[in-house]
Amino acid sequence: MLLVTGGAGFIGGNFVLDWLAGCDEPVVNFDKLTYAGNLDTLKPLERDSRHHFIHGDIGDRELVSSVLAEFRPRAVVNFAAESHVDRSIHGPGDFIQTNIVGTFGLLESVREYWSKLGADERLSFRFLHVSTDEVFGSLKASEAPFSETRAYAPNSPYSASKAASDHLVRAWHHTYGLPVVTTNCSNNYGPYHFPEKLIPLVILSALAGKPLPVYGDGQQIRDWLYVKDHCSAIRVVLANGQLGETYNVGGWNEKANLDVVRTICRILDELSPRLDGQSYSEQISFVQDRPGHDRRYAIDARKLARELGWKPVETFDTGIRKTIEWYLANDGWVENVTSGQYRDWMKHQYGK
Ligand code: NAD
Ligand code: TYD
Repeated sequence: MLLVTGGAGFIGGNFVLDWLAGCDEPVVNFDKLTYAGNLDTLKPLERDSRHHFIHGDIGDRELVSSVLAEFRPRAVVNFAAESHVDRSIHGPGDFIQTNIVGTFGLLESVREYWSKLGADERLSFRFLHVSTDEVFGSLKASEAPFSETRAYAPNSPYSASKAASDHLVRAWHHTYGLPVVTTNCSNNYGPYHFPEKLIPLVILSALAGKPLPVYGDGQQIRDWLYVKDHCSAIRVVLANGQLGETYNVGGWNEKANLDVVRTICRILDELSPRLDGQSYSEQISFVQDRPGHDRRYAIDARKLARELGWKPVETFDTGIRKTIEWYLANDGWVENVTSGQYRDWMKHQYGK
C-alpha cells in the first residue's frame, strides 16, 4: 500500500484517482484539508475499500507514526504543501510551518518506521518527494531550461520553503540512508485545479463575466504540464527512480501568460460563446505585478526520458482544451470550492 500525503489537493487528488484507476494497490490518503484540500475531488472513491482517508497534519508525528504502524505502506508520496506563491507573499508563516517544519516531522516519522522494517522491506521502501521548478529561480530568455544540476536560487517565500524541504529530503538520504527520490515539476494544469491559480481562475472568471487579471505585462513564461502527465511521471519515478536522485518533470510547453489567457479565451469563444457575441478576451485586465515575480521557468525533462523512458502525452493545445471542457462539465465541483473562504481571498488579492 501507498501513503499519499496531500491527496485531497489538486495534483495529489489526480494522482490518487489515477493510481486506483490503474491498479488495485490501496492508498492511505493523509491530508490536513486546508482551504486547498477538497474531499469532493475524491467522491468517486467514497465506497472504494482501496482508499483510506485520514485527516491530519504531516507535522503531527504521533498521528503519522500511528498511521504508518497501522497501514505499513511500502512507499510514501509526499504532495502535502502550501502551494500558492501569492498567498506566500501575504502570509509566509504557514509555508514555513508545513513545507519546512512539516516535512521535517514527516521525514522523522518515516525514518523511524523505515528503520524498523525487515531487511527486504527496508530495501524496497521509497520516499518520493514532490517539488517544483521554482526552487531554481528565474531564467533569462537566452538561458537553457533548468536541468537537475542547476543551482537552487529560490525567490519567493513559497519556493524558498520548497527548496528547504528538498534539502532536508536530500540530507535524510545522505545522512540516514532513507531511500528517497525527488521530482521537480513545472506548472501543472488540468481537472480539480483550485481556482486561485492562473488557468482555472481565468476560465471561471471569464464564464462569470469578471475581469481576467494579468500581472504586469503578461510576458512571464511558464512551462505547462498536464496533471495526468505529471501523475504518470511520478508512477515511473516511484517504480524505477534511482535512490537519492532528482528528476525534472516538464511538458515542453513554454508559454507567456498573456498567450495562455488568450488561448483560453479563444477556446471558450468556441465552446461557450458570450451572449453578446464579443470575445472573452475583452475581459483581459492588466493589474499590478506580483512582487519579485520570476520572469521565466522552463524544465529540461530529458533525464527522465533518457533514463526512465517517460514523455508527456499532452501538448498544451490538447491539454488546455481537455481542461476547459472539464470545467464546463463540472460546475458542481466548482460551486463547492468557490466558498466564502475563496471569495475572501479573491477580495483580498484583487480588490472588488
Ligand atoms: P494544493 O495546494 O492543491 O494541495 C495541497 C494539499 O496538501 C491540500 O490538499 C492540503 O490540504 C494539503 N496539506 C497542506 N498542508 C498540509 C499539512 N500540513 N499536512 C497534510 N496535508 C496538508 O497543491 P498542488 O498544486 O496539488 O501541489 C502538490 C505538490 O506539488 C506541492 O508539494 C507543490 O509544491 C508541488 N508542485 C505543484 C505545482 C503546481 O503547478 N500545482 C508545480 C510544481 C510543484
Ligand atoms: P500561478 O498559477 O499562481 O503559478 P506560479 O506562480 O506557481 O507559476 O501563476 C502562473 C503565472 O500566472 C505566474 O507568472 C503569475 C501569473 N498570474 C497572473 O498573471 N494573474 C493571476 O491572477 C494569477 C493567479 C497568476
